[in-house]
Amino acid sequence: GITRHYHFEIKYQNVTRLCHTKSMVTVNGKFPGPRIVAREGDRLLIKVDNHVQNNISIHWHGIRQLRSGWADGPAYVTQCPIQSGQTYVYNYTIVGQRGTLFWHGHISWLRSTVYGPLIILPKHGDQYPFAKPYKQVPIIFGEWWNADPEAVISQALQTGGGPNVSDAYTINGLPGPLYNCSARDTFKLKVKPGKTYLLRLINAALNDELFFSIANHTLTVVEADAVYVKPFETDIILITPGQTTNVLLKTKSHYPNVTYFMTARPYVTGQGTFDNSTVAGVLEYEVPSNSLHSAASVKRLPLFKPVLPALNDTSFATNFTKKLRSLASAKFPANVPQKVDKRFFFTVGLGTNPCQQNQTCQGPNGTMFSASVNNISFVLPTTALLQAHYFGQSNGVYSPDFPISPLIPFNYTGTPPNNTMVSNGTKLMVLSFNTSVELVVQDTSILGAESHPLHLHGFNFFVVGQSFGNFNPNKDPANFNLVDPVERNTVGVPSGGWVAIRFLADNPGVWFMHCHLEVHTSWGLKMAWLVLDGKLPNQKLLPPPADLPKC
Ligand code: C2O
Repeated sequence: GITRHYHFEIKYQNVTRLCHTKSMVTVNGKFPGPRIVAREGDRLLIKVDNHVQNNISIHWHGIRQLRSGWADGPAYVTQCPIQSGQTYVYNYTIVGQRGTLFWHGHISWLRSTVYGPLIILPKHGDQYPFAKPYKQVPIIFGEWWNADPEAVISQALQTGGGPNVSDAYTINGLPGPLYNCSARDTFKLKVKPGKTYLLRLINAALNDELFFSIANHTLTVVEADAVYVKPFETDIILITPGQTTNVLLKTKSHYPNVTYFMTARPYVTGQGTFDNSTVAGVLEYEVPSNSLHSAASVKRLPLFKPVLPALNDTSFATNFTKKLRSLASAKFPANVPQKVDKRFFFTVGLGTNPCQQNQTCQGPNGTMFSASVNNISFVLPTTALLQAHYFGQSNGVYSPDFPISPLIPFNYTGTPPNNTMVSNGTKLMVLSFNTSVELVVQDTSILGAESHPLHLHGFNFFVVGQSFGNFNPNKDPANFNLVDPVERNTVGVPSGGWVAIRFLADNPGVWFMHCHLEVHTSWGLKMAWLVLDGKLPNQKLLPPPADLPKC
């Protein structure tokens, strides 16, 4: 591989959408941010200069960061934030990965404006396991907020209530014609007839899983979270925040004199308020030069719109998810851990915290909204966990005693317990190097069942099982798929159900795991694993870089 240099200047930029102009934090003045393109085996040196007032940090979502946890990015987990006026160079090598990922701000709700595609091409000479596409197009979903999202979440955390929601969804930063004042802000995908396009779909939205479809066109799913899958055809994609999906779009063989919409809107299982609007982009066939139509005379009518599932269509979601299988070929095997060293059972869900003195709280029964893993609502420290671990200064920063089961066991999908309170803590689950882990994550219905897109840093995992109701340790493991389960970094824990994943803890460091719905992360649905060094020199975390930010 080669070394590629990028320069990210974090600066304010005025951006207008929905006829509303605001100054926001951007990378190089762009919204969405610049595209990073590299090849498997390349080393990336990304110099980040912070020219804004906010503390910032950037995460390379889905990059394994083998032994290079210092470059992973989550603030107060692997690094102190980059303060105003400071610089940090993210330095890592892409080992054994190719496909679509993305990068995003990883402090508070910075991700709302600071995100962009991270595309890893196969090594020179390596083929895709499908015919080479004519063109590749990143399609990154996001949100537009008229308000400042960072102010929205800090206000919600102070008053204990649910935060406001976004004003629009966006495709490559553009809301499209179904919103007020947005017709000229429409993403247009111009295509030629009879070609195959590789669409690299990325859900960078803060708080919503999305359905996506292109009218009158079938999509072939070929990759999820930068891992090839067994190809399958579908008209509609489900993609949670934190997930990426590559699809092949085969265009019609002859020029059709019509315009097709592509649309996305949320899949929602919870009860809170959400943005239920629809983003639309346009698929437009180029007028063939030899055609009777001259480009100027073409009126592209009629307009075809896709039909998306109902907002709460869990049966669609379940069926779609079931179709995702690892390619599991000779060239791209599925290395599913067959034996397990440690089994864990984690519950995830919403709960409450007591209202602080002298405060009126707008959460349930005058409490504050909270969220937890095994009833621990994770509190970020004021220094970085990885630093504290590496320098032997964990005292007062974290404790290595993450509970192995929920503190209040109950029927997770039946009647909620009377006590909805969570405990706050900064507790890590410690694993020795190369532990083979099986983790069952159960959604609780303490404050309503809800699907949680759970994201693990530092690893891909295999989704060996998932179903509804309470996980049954005596019966369910018999049905686990240990042959070709999908391998990914973000999985939707089904609303009122559970998911079982396996991974090999072969990457020393501190690795964040959290719900990729940003509001749930803010409420505490997060925890961290500490994977200890192995014995051999190449099994140890690398030393921290000299420019690692200080708190
Ligand atoms: Cu994409 Cu910890 O995040």
